[in-house]
Amino acid sequence: MIYILGIESSCDDTAAAVTLDDRLLSNVTANQEVHRNFGGVVPELASRAHLQNIIPVIQAAIQEANISKNQLSAVAFTRGPGLLGSLLVGISFAKSFSLGLKIPIIEVDHLQAHILAHFLRDDTSSKPVPVFPFLCLTVSGGHTQITVVKSPFDFQVIGRTIDDAAGETFDKTAKIMGLPYPGGPMIDAYAKEGNPDAFRFSKPNIPGLDFSFSGLKTSILYFLRDHLKKDPDFIEKNKADLCASIQSVIVDILLQKVKTAADLTGIREIAIAGGVSANFSLRAALLKAQDDFNWNVFIPRLEYSTDNAAMIAITGYFKYCNNDFANLSVAPYARSSF
Ligand code: KG4
Ligand code: ZN
Repeated sequence: MIYILGIESSCDDTAAAVTLDDRLLSNVTANQEVHRNFGGVVPELASRAHLQNIIPVIQAAIQEANISKNQLSAVAFTRGPGLLGSLLVGISFAKSFSLGLKIPIIEVDHLQAHILAHFLRDDTSSKPVPVFPFLCLTVSGGHTQITVVKSPFDFQVIGRTIDDAAGETFDKTAKIMGLPYPGGPMIDAYAKEGNPDAFRFSKPNIPGLDFSFSGLKTSILYFLRDHLKKDPDFIEKNKADLCASIQSVIVDILLQKVKTAADLTGIREIAIAGGVSANFSLRAALLKAQDDFNWNVFIPRLEYSTDNAAMIAITGYFKYCNNDFANLSVAPYARSSF
């Protein structure tokens, strides 16, 4: 019976969760509204908000799990990648809490955790989990990668973005359209009412498994600028169609590369992870691909797509079983090591 407290503080969500072995007992997230007025995450404000949130969030997670803190076996925390000031809050808390409780700490890579979220068991415990090796498309605000996942600890990145991430592309185009941050969920919501074929944007021509989104972002910027010159209300009048068309091209780019990766590796177990995996259209496209190409697809529950601490706790559990503990000198990192 291994109880893990997971702590996530890499960006603008302060989150804590408790697992019992691979079963989730509680999952608490405090979002930071403070960034909305700035159109993006302000690192200094994020660290301060983490400081305010961390104790109540952890208290709530332990309470909801219906355990006492003395039952915890270890504390797992996000070491990186992320904002250093934000990560430091979670790491410092984990260190002092573990010292007080005389239990070990476990460092977790945020991207690895997004992927391992697929192994969380909750009330629907009969849900199948991916079989190794599987492919995972990890799409978040800062990363876009295709990884061959050979075991919980053996990851090989076979494709990545050479410029912007998919989530960044959603967020930046939303910003150009005057939509509030974070733009991804807003584009997703408007797109449901729009026609994905209303406007055409060309896809980048990048060989192999790498992605590029900066050309698309620039072409959307010029497209809107030209139309706004003729009609200042162009965006307002076409919001839903624009969102649907932009979303459709991003999803097409993602799916095409996953298809290439599946063909090249022969792997048919396909998972998605990260904030953009909450996207309705990406989820639908993947389910269609499952039928078209005879894949086994794994789509995380919405609450495990975007940043959460449940994924940190389950990764902590895997590492606990592997005797993989950190020492108290561990420091955060801003960029991923894989
Ligand atoms: O994984 P995540 O929560 O944080 C990072 O690790 O970056 O991902 C955040 C990203 C943001 O860019 C956000 O706009 C995007 O995920 N996102 C979405 C949706 N929900 C979140 N993008 C498209 N559609 C969504 N429904
Ligand atoms: Zn994330």
